[in-house]
Amino acid sequence: MTGESRFLRACLRQPVDRTPVWFLRQAGRYMQEYREVRRHHTLVEICKQPELAADVTITAAEKLGVDAAIIFADLLLPLEPMGLDFEFQAGEGPVVHRPVRSAPDVLALRTDRAGELEYVARAIEKVAAHFRGQLGIIGFCGAPFTLASYMIEGGSSRSYIETKKMMYRDPSAWNLLLEKLVAVLTAYCRQQVEAGADVIQIFDSWVGSLSLSDYREYAFEASKRLVRAVQEMGVPVIYFGVETAGLLPQMAATGADVIGLDWRQPLDEGWRAVGAGHAVQGNLDPVTLFAPLEVLEERVREVLRAAAGRPGHIFNLGHGIVPGTPVENVQAVVRMVKEAGNRNRE
Ligand code: CP3
Repeated sequence: MTGESRFLRACLRQPVDRTPVWFLRQAGRYMQEYREVRRHHTLVEICKQPELAADVTITAAEKLGVDAAIIFADLLLPLEPMGLDFEFQAGEGPVVHRPVRSAPDVLALRTDRAGELEYVARAIEKVAAHFRGQLGIIGFCGAPFTLASYMIEGGSSRSYIETKKMMYRDPSAWNLLLEKLVAVLTAYCRQQVEAGADVIQIFDSWVGSLSLSDYREYAFEASKRLVRAVQEMGVPVIYFGVETAGLLPQMAATGADVIGLDWRQPLDEGWRAVGAGHAVQGNLDPVTLFAPLEVLEERVREVLRAAAGRPGHIFNLGHGIVPGTPVENVQAVVRMVKEAGNRNRE
């Protein structure tokens, strides 16, 4: 049934029996099964052991009853074969030990070791063998801008000052950095597609920190090249960022099949900005999952009403599930989306 899953059909804007649903960060600390695995292994250990990564991926998807499984990995993994060591520090998020700050730092980055990321492909093979085409299998990577921002800032950031300094002051170093990232990410995505990923999601999580002009000048081309390279591998691409309301038409111009929308504008407005030639994914506020069920249900219906049953909507959150989210509320949303689909057919 490969090529026929409800999720994949929606990515291609084909009619579906009901709206497909999955969640950003569906495997994570809010889920007890994941916390149990994390007691014995670090995040990076889980990522690097295909058996464990596949198990975490499958457990989350099955526990929630969603239509797609996103491979358990992390955005920052490609930094290591490029020559940058990083770690996740409790409560602080990722820390890159020697951030990229100069043209020589960029020149020193390696692009010939993407093969070292093969452990992600091995995990995808296991997930694909498990689900056999019944669920969509999502591979992913960071977008060039967002990964460059981690490399330069050395971690999460509020204002992206160092990143923008390199953009503005040394555009040739910046361009070389993005070029190197596109080379490594293209190879990494190819491994994932060959291993059985049906779709690739490109996370440009922090691109909303850019003005439209700066997005056009410093980020768009590299994203577009990556999107097109992945599409040539024969799979659709989901391109996602947050706080992107002002960037949506330009993000859609990358040619991505699906654009991920955050919750800060109604889904129909976001879809209008993206254009009818693209599918959309989103866009419930993840913190709504802490609300009483009546409030949650009203918000879920609001998203579905805004999508109005048009082909090419994938129900999701506007950003990832946060720690502490009640898992039964996530399951309730899956039920609500499925029941709404059933009602439409009656
Ligand atoms: O089901 C899934 O989505 C899990 C797979 C996954 C992880 N990271 C595992 C993870 C995915 C798709 C990611 C992507 C990722 N990683 C993004 C893009 C998504 C987004 O949120 O916009 C980003 C920006 C990162 C970088 C990253 N990884 C940060 C900033 C952090 C720390 C934040 C925090 O919540 O502590 C991580 C850690 C991380 N990656 C966790 C998980 C489940 C939680 C920490 C842990 O288990 O120790």
